[in-house]
Amino acid sequence: MNTQTSTTALVEMNNVSISFGGIHAVDDATVDLFPGEVVGLLGHNGAGKSTLIKILSGAYQRDSGTISIDGKPATINNPRDAKAYGIETIYQTLALADNVDTAANLYLGRELKTAWGTLDDVAMEAKAREVMGRLNPRFQRFKEPVKALSGGQRQSVAIARAILFNARILIMDEPTAALGPEETAQVADLILQLKAEGIGIFLISHDIHDVFDLADRVGVMKNGQFVGYAKTTDVTKDEVLGMIIAGKCPPGAQPGPGALAA
Ligand SMILES: Nc1ncnc2c1ncn2[C@@H]1O[C@H](COP(=O)(O)OP(=O)(O)O)[C@@H](O)[C@H]1O
Ligand SMILES: [Mg+2]
Repeated sequence: MNTQTSTTALVEMNNVSISFGGIHAVDDATVDLFPGEVVGLLGHNGAGKSTLIKILSGAYQRDSGTISIDGKPATINNPRDAKAYGIETIYQTLALADNVDTAANLYLGRELKTAWGTLDDVAMEAKAREVMGRLNPRFQRFKEPVKALSGGQRQSVAIARAILFNARILIMDEPTAALGPEETAQVADLILQLKAEGIGIFLISHDIHDVFDLADRVGVMKNGQFVGYAKTTDVTKDEVLGMIIAGKCPPGAQPGPGALAA
């Protein structure tokens, strides 16, 4: 169930590149993720983080490079392919349907039907209670439209929707950018819960404070390239800031193609 005992990577992206016009949005990027692990992807706005994970989630098609899932070459050409591998993405915007309740959001577009072809509201609500209970046991507002919920509660609905369909690889792109401190702490609890269940998480942020304490490892991108990678126990926050700002790879980190020459 956890990182230390598992040797096969959930995800390996190797030498992945994509250009838009003349811009190398992602240039020779290599990164991996193990079960029960949180890998923080850091870098300034425009560094290429979202583009990289959109390649993994099938939203963009790479120009070159390979992706393996569970150690085997994977074919990911569209979001459906990615979902079939258990890859789910939560964007900052959450993409919830504001006017319907939690259960309806969890099953949006993938509704359960009864034998008669009608919506199986009873089964959907029961499952919603089960999954939300796992993530956020205090949550009781099942009968309310999600627009009435707090930011943290909405975040847990988005996460529940992702894991409901057996996500094993969760991508969270700037998940706390719109949240206050208390709700950010709630999301941190959710992430630890998912990690304990063996889910691998790419946690993306331009802000080191959102990521450093939660991540087992970080990868820092700059101008489409990885500056380097480090276990968060091997480097300081200041050193990672140096990676983000100056592209300088400290001794405790492993340099990538974007590292400044020493
Ligand atoms: N669909 C697109 N078309 C053109 N350029 C894009 C597109 N998506 C991203 N880019 C460019 O790729 C670079 C990386 O952007 P992005 O991956 O969004 O960075 P980050 O998520 O690190 O802020 C930027 O220069 C951005 O303008
Ligand atoms: Mg982004």
